[in-house]
Amino acid sequence: MVDSNTQYPETGALAPAPADSLLISNVLVYGEGEPTNVFVKDGVIAAIGGTHEADRTIDGNGGVLLPGFVDMHVHLREPGREDTETIATGSAAAAKGGFTAVFTMANTTPVMDQPVIAESVWFKGQNIGLCDVHPVGSITKGLEGKELTEFGMMARSEAKVRMFSDDGKCVDDPQVMRRALEYAKGMDVLIAQHAEDHRLTEGASAHEGENAARLGLRGWPRVAEESIVVRDAIMARDYGNRVHICHASTEGTVELLRWAKSQGIPITAEVTPHHLTLTDERLETYDAVNKVNPPLRESRDAEALKKALLDGTIDVVATDHAPHGSEDKCCEFENAKPGMLGLETSLSIIVDTFVATGLANWRFVARVMSERPAEITRLPGQGRPIAEGEPANLAIVDPGKTWTASGADFASKAENTPFEGQEFSAKVTHTVLRGKVTCADGVAQNA
Ligand code: DOR
Ligand code: ZN
Repeated sequence: MVDSNTQYPETGALAPAPADSLLISNVLVYGEGEPTNVFVKDGVIAAIGGTHEADRTIDGNGGVLLPGFVDMHVHLREPGREDTETIATGSAAAAKGGFTAVFTMANTTPVMDQPVIAESVWFKGQNIGLCDVHPVGSITKGLEGKELTEFGMMARSEAKVRMFSDDGKCVDDPQVMRRALEYAKGMDVLIAQHAEDHRLTEGASAHEGENAARLGLRGWPRVAEESIVVRDAIMARDYGNRVHICHASTEGTVELLRWAKSQGIPITAEVTPHHLTLTDERLETYDAVNKVNPPLRESRDAEALKKALLDGTIDVVATDHAPHGSEDKCCEFENAKPGMLGLETSLSIIVDTFVATGLANWRFVARVMSERPAEITRLPGQGRPIAEGEPANLAIVDPGKTWTASGADFASKAENTPFEGQEFSAKVTHTVLRGKVTCADGVAQNA
């Protein structure tokens, strides 16, 4: 438990538990150079290299030291669906995944459309102490797409809401979206769009293509996403505020983002580990663990998304961690809820896809999983360089640790991982939040 009256300077986060010193021994900073020690005092990196007496030592075992990860897009389901995830279980999953900050979406019950709800989520996260849980405010009241929420009140609340999204639903009405962008501009808060023209996806449960046609599933066409991406890019151009595209899933979206960025439009985008690595060929079994919104698409989409992440057209990896209970997943495909767990597998997927294949290095992982998400959300104290005087928000990755994903072993309350039984070649071993160890040897801990 931390003192809920004390603000951690600048970050808006509460102070860490009374300062212990911590020695992280034998790590490769950004996977580079020779193994070294990192000494942490009062929640801050005090020295890199040398030997130091510390209250606690963790053995990095030659692993890779990275800045703690920041996930711009999770669903922790509290308030309202605590049967599937809570801030406590979601924070533990985040700590196990190497995350030191997450943004939890507004599609809760009640909807996160008022300061009091956002504050309760923020303070619960701080009291649990495993990860900073930043509430995302909804753009419209009740996610109804009609009336804007009080961005200013939420931004100025104790929760310091810095991102607004109706995720799960698209802000369809162009006039509402325009007003949201204009309103957000004055406060420099981020508008994140779930790009889906709902008229084009009515009754859809799979990517519109050959597989859906053969399986008898109604299709969700690419144009439903792309038409909103281009509309919002042009609005960002003309009304001058930045816009962020949630879970980009198509080759066309990549082309539009590339065009928009080349025009200097202030647009950013995220991609999920599942859209990077899975396709609609998975639907063959009708197992609803593969149902997600936007849907898994084709290999050409996944390839385009990978290239876009590598060249910066897509800025960040975000999990869209979406826990669901078996009653909502073990049923007919069309009736199942969309969504997949992501927090405990994200790093491993990104390493296997980009680092183990030689496509990218550890600096890339730091950029797409920590630095860029912290920049885009204007989050002080996260995604910072690993350097003396910087906050000790860190993750250690064992790049040679093979492990097999199993939903039953997750800290998450739900088990809906599409990666069940998959073997990965790297794993987060430790996570440190402002000098406090929140995950040790792969186990989340609140000590
Ligand atoms: O698959 C999804 N699940 N996509 C969304 O946009 C919402 C999310 C959820 O809340 O389950
Ligand atoms: Zn989502």
